[in-house]
Amino acid sequence: MKHFTTVNDIANPELLIEEAIQLKSNPYQFSELGKFKTLGLVFLNPSLRTRLSTQKAAKILGMEVMVMNLDKESWAIEWNDDVIMNSNNVEHIKDAATVLGSYCDIIGIRCFPSLTDKKLDYSEKILLQLMKYCNVPVISLESATLHPLQSLADAITIKENWKEPYKPKVVLTWAPHIKALPQAVPNSFAEWMCKLDIDFTIAQPEGYELCDDYTSGAKITYNQEEALNEADFVYVKNWSCYHNYGKTPEVNSNWMMDLEKYKLTNEAGIMHCLPVRRDVELSSKLIDHTNSLIQQQAANRVYAAQTVLKNILQGGYMKKNLSEKYSLEEA
Ligand code: CP
Repeated sequence: MKHFTTVNDIANPELLIEEAIQLKSNPYQFSELGKFKTLGLVFLNPSLRTRLSTQKAAKILGMEVMVMNLDKESWAIEWNDDVIMNSNNVEHIKDAATVLGSYCDIIGIRCFPSLTDKKLDYSEKILLQLMKYCNVPVISLESATLHPLQSLADAITIKENWKEPYKPKVVLTWAPHIKALPQAVPNSFAEWMCKLDIDFTIAQPEGYELCDDYTSGAKITYNQEEALNEADFVYVKNWSCYHNYGKTPEVNSNWMMDLEKYKLTNEAGIMHCLPVRRDVELSSKLIDHTNSLIQQQAANRVYAAQTVLKNILQGGYMKKNLSEKYSLEEA
């Protein structure tokens, strides 16, 4: 694993999930692996779980961690190449990323979408510009289109509660919200679930279909009740429209998951990535239900991050010695 930005960066997702569960049983077994290595965490948007779980994971591996809220604490970044920098942007990403890479051995970045420009958001320009210029492995802490650390934690949680060899029915259901949210969590969850040997269904109102790139292999329905029937895991999440990009057209029926709908399921594990708006997206009674896996998902964020960092550290994909890099380029 060189970078971690999508499930496609992983040779075998099933093995990575097993490795994370094994690591969870003995978290301090690699406490020297990250000695003298530094993780840089760069945030362009708020975070509670990703920020703290990734810091904790790095520290368990013996790494130093530096965190920067790039949008508030640094110079305004120019993300476009080949521009004359006579606007308000003070520093080019080429310069800033190269500096960050000289201080850090691995860099994580959180960069949400605009939800106004689909082409720009789905090009992952910010993530790719950092990867292009920093010369070290990059971990997505949630990009414009995907949230792979969350999905790995979700997959770990499902695996821990999956009664093998039974093939579970996993349902991702759209939920109401008061504002437009990105598609990154559902895209990513779908991308990971489609790689596993499970029965996977996505239920959403008409108009809220996700990008086909992430849902190949999923059953897709507009009928929430039909989807929930005999479900073993129900992942509740809001997202704004992909096709009518970033819009939130009104939905006529009630899509909030509640105790009444829960009765349709096979006593399903209830999942949500958090933060959740109680009794808007999901009923409080289900968030606090004995079959709620929501806190377990959040706790598993540490082991997801630790497994990814461990693989990158062991893979030897650290930055090249800078003098070696420059002499190679000059040759
Ligand atoms: N689920 C998740 O990514 O939480 P944060 O936004 O708090 O990091």
